[in-house]
Amino acid sequence: VTVFVPRDAAALAVGADKVAAAIEHEARARGQDVNIVRNGSRGMLWLEVLVEVRTDKGRVAYGPVKASDVPSLFDAGFLHGGDHPLGHGLTHDIPFLKGQTRLTFARCGVTDPLSLDDYRHYQGLKGLANAIAMAPAEIVKQVTDSGLRGRGGAGFPTGIKWKTVADAKADQKYIVCNADEGDSGTFADRMIMEGDPFVLIEGMAIAGIAVGATKGYVYTRSEYPHAIAMMEEAIQIARREGILGASVMGSAYAFDMEVRMGAGAYVCGEETSLLNSLEGKRGVVRAKPPLPALQGLFGKPTVVNNVMSLASIPVIMDRGAAFYRDFGVGRSHGTIPIQLAGNLKHGGLYETAFGLPLGQLINEIGGGTISGRPVKAVQVGGPLGAYFPPSLFDTIFDYEAFTAAGGLIGHAGVVVFDDTADMLKQARFAMEFCAVESCGKCTPCRIGSTRGVETVDKIARGIEPEKNKVLLEDLCNTMKFGSLCALGGFTPYPVVSAMTHFPEDFVPAPVREAAE
Ligand code: NAI
Ligand code: SF4
Repeated sequence: VTVFVPRDAAALAVGADKVAAAIEHEARARGQDVNIVRNGSRGMLWLEVLVEVRTDKGRVAYGPVKASDVPSLFDAGFLHGGDHPLGHGLTHDIPFLKGQTRLTFARCGVTDPLSLDDYRHYQGLKGLANAIAMAPAEIVKQVTDSGLRGRGGAGFPTGIKWKTVADAKADQKYIVCNADEGDSGTFADRMIMEGDPFVLIEGMAIAGIAVGATKGYVYTRSEYPHAIAMMEEAIQIARREGILGASVMGSAYAFDMEVRMGAGAYVCGEETSLLNSLEGKRGVVRAKPPLPALQGLFGKPTVVNNVMSLASIPVIMDRGAAFYRDFGVGRSHGTIPIQLAGNLKHGGLYETAFGLPLGQLINEIGGGTISGRPVKAVQVGGPLGAYFPPSLFDTIFDYEAFTAAGGLIGHAGVVVFDDTADMLKQARFAMEFCAVESCGKCTPCRIGSTRGVETVDKIARGIEPEKNKVLLEDLCNTMKFGSLCALGGFTPYPVVSAMTHFPEDFVPAPVREAAE
């Protein structure tokens, strides 16, 4: 009997290794034959450790399983899908999974991440094979026609970026995968690297063939040791099996790649700062132009794409541009892996076509707050994203709709706060975060963020609050339009949205306490 126990960091954090050991021990003691596969996560984090058993009817799920639950699972006959209080029936019928459209995450949690046989069995490498059979310009056209936009946050059309690199003349070009996933509440990049590393390798190899790059780098963070180990092992397997190297799958194209680890600065997720760090320099932002597409890594034309963008390429090249383009709304095509986090009953990864209303994600799919208290605010798009009150819950997940509502999708992290959150403190945190993480290159961000913290503190202490609120808004304007990169430029989003939607929190502390 095949039993699946995830090896994703989220499952390991709640005892997946112990659960796997307990299943093995119990099976031996009872003389039962089990084959434990360590898969990726299905993304239903409240159910981790989610143990699945392969049965005639499909996989049956149990969770959250602790090592101490294992004997009772055996007693209940879980190896044959037997009933147990932790049972959820067939995995694919669990509403959280059933409602999703999994294109990028199709294999994540299903396969053994390091099994190429599994990868091939679930449609892997078909996109790469198709790419090899077409002219590079045709690959770029497919990606452009698919409507894929950069999933790192800016939403820039991936095909146009690739065309810029493809058209540039140079002796060497690079593919750089931005896996420096630093936004609060985000984990999609990590989940793919740990749960389906070959999809990223395949996406990068296709990008290399399309633009004429022979070398790729995955730049990720030291906080992701499991993802790093998994990627490195997968790259070695891919090399051994002729997917990477001097001849990609027997073709005339060469492509190889390696993983590089950053030192943990948030700003190294900004592409030019990332490139400096990759070159061994301090992670300071470079002025654009020149665009990395023309002068990127070591001054050479470089595709810098987020993990999610690159991991979406194989399905586009397998099923075709039109298939992918048909999902979504307006100019937001395809699917978006939304990461539900914070004060939510059902946190996890939810991949869906663009167009779902924010409120449905929070109240229905996420199941409302875990504290049981009313939702006060939702921050979408990381620490630089705007806070939305429930009155904006009809905003649909779409780049343009979020911009129109004064926010941003970013890397699609959604962090929920209940009514105990103090939005003045959240605004202060945004300014403080910017001050701590600023690379120091430009004045509005380096100085502005520190002045921002002081100004919020003055409002909290009742020092000329009205005058200081005007000053804070003015400062936000300067940071928004005067900063060199998104760190200083987007910090005003959480600050201004907190002031606009929650003015009751921007009064001196004694007044607030009296009101409570
Ligand atoms: P940007 O709008 O300057 O650029 C977007 C991308 O398009 C860049 O790769 C840029 O080089 C490229 N580009 C622009 N014009 C081009 C052209 N004509 N040809 C080829 N390529 C071109 O945005 P930026 O500063 O790179 O990113 C800002 C975004 O980052 C924000 O929207 C924010 O949501 C997101 N962000 C994401 C984080 C994460 O952890 N994933 C963390 C912080 C911010
Ligand atoms: Fe550096 Fe901040 Fe300026 Fe960005 S906005 S370049 S992080 S100082």
